[in-house]
Amino acid sequence: MTNSDSPSRFYLTTPIYYVNARPHLGHAYTTIVCDAIARRKRALGIDTFFLTGTDEHGQKIERSAEKAGRTPMEFATAIAGEWRGLWDRLGLTYDDFIRTTEPRHERGVQKLFATLRDRGFIYKGSYTGQYCVSDELYVDGPAGTICPDCGRVTETVSEENYFFKLSAFERKLLEFYEANPGFMGPESTRREVISFVRGGLRDLSVSRTSFSWGIPVPGDEKHVIYVWLDALANYITALGYGSDDPADQARFEKFWPADLHLIGKEISRFHCVYWPAFLMAAGIPLPRSVMANGWLLFDQGKMSKSRGNIVRAETVLEVLGADALRYFLLREIPFGQDGSFTFDALVQRYNGDLANGYGNLVSRVVSMMHKYFGGVVPEAGAETAAETALRECAVRTIATFGPAFDELNFSEALKALWVLVAETDGYLTANAPWKKPADRSDADHVALQARVLATAAEAIRIITALVYPILPDSAAKVWRQLGQGEIADAAKNSFLKNLAWGGLKAGKKFAEPAPLFPRAEKDAVERMQNIEDQNSRSAVEAASTCGAANAEPSSPAQAPAAPQVPASSGTAKLVPAAKTEKKGVMVSEKSEKQTLVDSAPVDSVGVDAANEAHAYETVALSSSPVAPAVQSPAPQQVAVEPHHITIDDFIKVDLRVAQILVAERVPKADKLLRLEVDLGYEKRQILAGIAQYYEPEKLIGRKIVIVANLAPRKMRGLESNGMLLAASLPDGAPVLAGFLEEVPLGARLR
Ligand code: MSP
Repeated sequence: MTNSDSPSRFYLTTPIYYVNARPHLGHAYTTIVCDAIARRKRALGIDTFFLTGTDEHGQKIERSAEKAGRTPMEFATAIAGEWRGLWDRLGLTYDDFIRTTEPRHERGVQKLFATLRDRGFIYKGSYTGQYCVSDELYVDGPAGTICPDCGRVTETVSEENYFFKLSAFERKLLEFYEANPGFMGPESTRREVISFVRGGLRDLSVSRTSFSWGIPVPGDEKHVIYVWLDALANYITALGYGSDDPADQARFEKFWPADLHLIGKEISRFHCVYWPAFLMAAGIPLPRSVMANGWLLFDQGKMSKSRGNIVRAETVLEVLGADALRYFLLREIPFGQDGSFTFDALVQRYNGDLANGYGNLVSRVVSMMHKYFGGVVPEAGAETAAETALRECAVRTIATFGPAFDELNFSEALKALWVLVAETDGYLTANAPWKKPADRSDADHVALQARVLATAAEAIRIITALVYPILPDSAAKVWRQLGQGEIADAAKNSFLKNLAWGGLKAGKKFAEPAPLFPRAEKDAVERMQNIEDQNSRSAVEAASTCGAANAEPSSPAQAPAAPQVPASSGTAKLVPAAKTEKKGVMVSEKSEKQTLVDSAPVDSVGVDAANEAHAYETVALSSSPVAPAVQSPAPQQVAVEPHHITIDDFIKVDLRVAQILVAERVPKADKLLRLEVDLGYEKRQILAGIAQYYEPEKLIGRKIVIVANLAPRKMRGLESNGMLLAASLPDGAPVLAGFLEEVPLGARLR
């Protein structure tokens, strides 16, 4: 997949990350993949430049900063520090970390903008339309249109803008794709991009006046430059584009065009259409390839802050270490496809492939080398058929691993490498150097031990050299144990370039064995889950404290207004809502239940009697944003009755406090209301079957509870992104759940 016609230097980039969110495993995935590639390239003797950074301008960041009561720059600096800090904790070897608020970047972006304008590709025009603040994107359609990328409600904006003549590049782009089949991948991305361009390109608005947190248009400072033009330019500004310094210019000349932009699949349009068009217009060479990774899924959905289904890299780091995470991500997910992350699968891979596989193999061989040869590698002596077979397997592995890795087929590369791990293990077991049969002479036995241990150790050396880009810390430990010194030095000396069988010389002194991958105990999954739960709880608490100073003015309608909840509902318990629709409202079969309100028949959720107290308290009466009651640091295993659900099941339901901003009837649907709600961290559209019971105007400003991680559904052509929570009265009338005390938006209910 990657272009290799300039083997002496390699420039690769991650997307730059928005600073309105903190890093999660989805982001770590792309960055880890880049790091593995960068390490391999360097170890092959290729002069490599690996760039990452943060994307800090735009309305979304401006608003997040405002909510946090900080200036955008203070806010961006704090969050950018977290991103960089995590990359450092993960041991990622980026060569530069660019922030789009740095002067070197701003200068380069202004130069690019001026160049595009001077060359006649930017003109001034006016525009009124729908704008998605989250994606920083104009969307076709009337007011209230949902953003096709993220499902959020767009805002109407009217602006005088600068436009980029994207339409002039339709044919040129198609010709370019045709002439450069390796430019973008995987195939699904290529097809999508080509069909998008074939569908026709309209000129692109590349400035904004509706907010000011951005890079000013040179010479017309009331406009700021479109964030995607700003962000994409990071790939050249980090190298020195726009600088007068000869050293910067030399770096730009040396490394541009990029060999590989690694991106997530949802940003391929920006990288495969807009970016090459900007570059063509500016007369700058195009990157050699743009490759899109799939999404990391968790709980069946794309891992993302807005869905609330994130796992942080720190959690895995704390329990299993960075190498375990790197191995899992690269082995488990065929690059380009979506892949599910589960703690179970992670622990299984860790125990199966690392602890019991590679780790155990190394520990056996290093220990035996010490036991039988005082830790000094003996002469292997003449090869028998068994050694020939293992050597041939190693040679085949060297031949298959590299190309597979370089084609970004990490999973296949690792699979092939683990064949060698298994073969070496099998070879040891078959030859059993620890067992001396009665009919074997001492001399023959020592010869066998020498041959087998030297051969197995050489196989381990090959495995370790190949796996180094993926397991850098563990490979470094093994390298030392094999008496090879520092693997980082070996990498600097291009040790992968001529990797061949026979590099482990007799007489080398092994270091003492040291544990590599201590087996993960049964509770590893639970521990990671607990850390995550604890973290999301702290995040909400932090949000509620930090938000207190800037809390939005509370609406007088926040306490649950009429209709009154009858006394009997004080004993209500939450149950799975009925699967039948009644009066457009989801109600339970038994009437006096707290129920999830929606207009469509769905499998709904609730909790059973065991959790009744927490659930009722939390939903109906809670005075704190987070009820700690369901949390237990070391849950004891008790039998789960068939009608019970576990805490883990309950935790999957993301119940959040939201405030109704807009409420209106849906034309030709007498039961449905269209609501726009604010979760603090984002706005959503929700459709609810409560139109017969609530006047829309009276709902505005009310704080309610929603299920925030329900898969989006369409009703009457409108997308609903969540579900309201309400009690259902005997006649089916819903009573929206609310709070007597002040609660911050987005607070999670547990
Ligand atoms: N700032 C833009 C990129 C500008 S590049 C010139 C952006 N930032 S982002 O923070 O929202 O996302 C950065 C990258 O993280 C994207 O490539 C995105 O696909 C990736 N991921 C975010 N969540 C992800 C998963 N759950 N799984 C895999 N990648 C994920 O977009």
